[in-house]
Amino acid sequence: MSQVKTIGILTSGGDAPGMNAAVRAVVRKGLHNGLRVIGFNRGYNGLLKKDYRDMTPRSVSNIIENGGTALYSARCLEFKDPSGVAQGVNNCLELGIDGLVVIGGDGSFRGARDLSLSGIPCIGIPGTIDNDIPSTDYSIGFDTALNTIVENIDRLRDTSESHDRCSVVEVMGHRCGDLAVEAAVCCGAVAVLVPEVPFDLQKDVFDKMSQAKEHGKTNFIVITAEGVTGIGLGKDPDLTADSLAKEIQAKTQVETRATILGHIQRGGSPTGRDRLLGSRMGYYAVQLLLEGKGNRVVCERCNSITDFDILEALQMTRPVDEQLLKIAEEISV
Ligand code: F6P
Repeated sequence: MSQVKTIGILTSGGDAPGMNAAVRAVVRKGLHNGLRVIGFNRGYNGLLKKDYRDMTPRSVSNIIENGGTALYSARCLEFKDPSGVAQGVNNCLELGIDGLVVIGGDGSFRGARDLSLSGIPCIGIPGTIDNDIPSTDYSIGFDTALNTIVENIDRLRDTSESHDRCSVVEVMGHRCGDLAVEAAVCCGAVAVLVPEVPFDLQKDVFDKMSQAKEHGKTNFIVITAEGVTGIGLGKDPDLTADSLAKEIQAKTQVETRATILGHIQRGGSPTGRDRLLGSRMGYYAVQLLLEGKGNRVVCERCNSITDFDILEALQMTRPVDEQLLKIAEEISV
């Protein structure tokens, strides 16, 4: 018989489509097992301010199909400070919380690890479009964001084709190039720039485009990850999607426009894959808490759901998929 009677749940960091499926699964699985389930609003802020609701089966009705998160989300600076964590622990003890499920990215997991080390068992669920949690093959939201990118690049391809142009498209991903590489394969991008792999603009973009032009190619998609051109993480802080577009035009004589897809990528109804992943991970997280486990991250590995120690998960690294990068490069021209 499990000692766990009350669990909490929150969504933290950048929202991701499919978070609602995970929230729904945690709430319904928890209630199914006779637990009280407390939903904190706006991530760790809700825990610190005791801004919460008692979840019922109806609190999560008709949310699985919605993007965003019904519990709202935020980044909480206060929680990075030990005094914030101590306040969180106090509030959990006051509310009788025996375990907490945290849906978010690596920043959110650091908070979950700190709470776990202070005696509140926490389970992390990877929810971020960036897919930058190396312990899991896929994070919740990645698939929907990829499909949103593909749909939008298809539109850009239409107009690029009509005008014999090149479109430079900047996609999200923070420090991770997964969205960029997978989108490049799906959309036939002539070049893709990711933060993990060094590149030479002359050889990898301008020369490649010029050769393709000689072979009769008239329109081009160049994808760049925001970690290269967007959020100042790249080696050249002055390289933006706009400046890259201008350089391409000057070096190749192909008229070029830049598009930053931005937060469009974070919204929209989750795909079936993200609903499935969120549901499986949410269910599994509650099972772990019922078994008395804490300080774990739920992950998907080779289509199976498994779990790792949070610290171990935070220390893992995963290189960009070189094989996919090679496929993108070789079949685009
Ligand atoms: O982590 C998700 C993400 O969308 C990143 O891809 C991006 O760098 C960042 O969040 C944007 O953050 P904000 O919503 O605070 O502008």
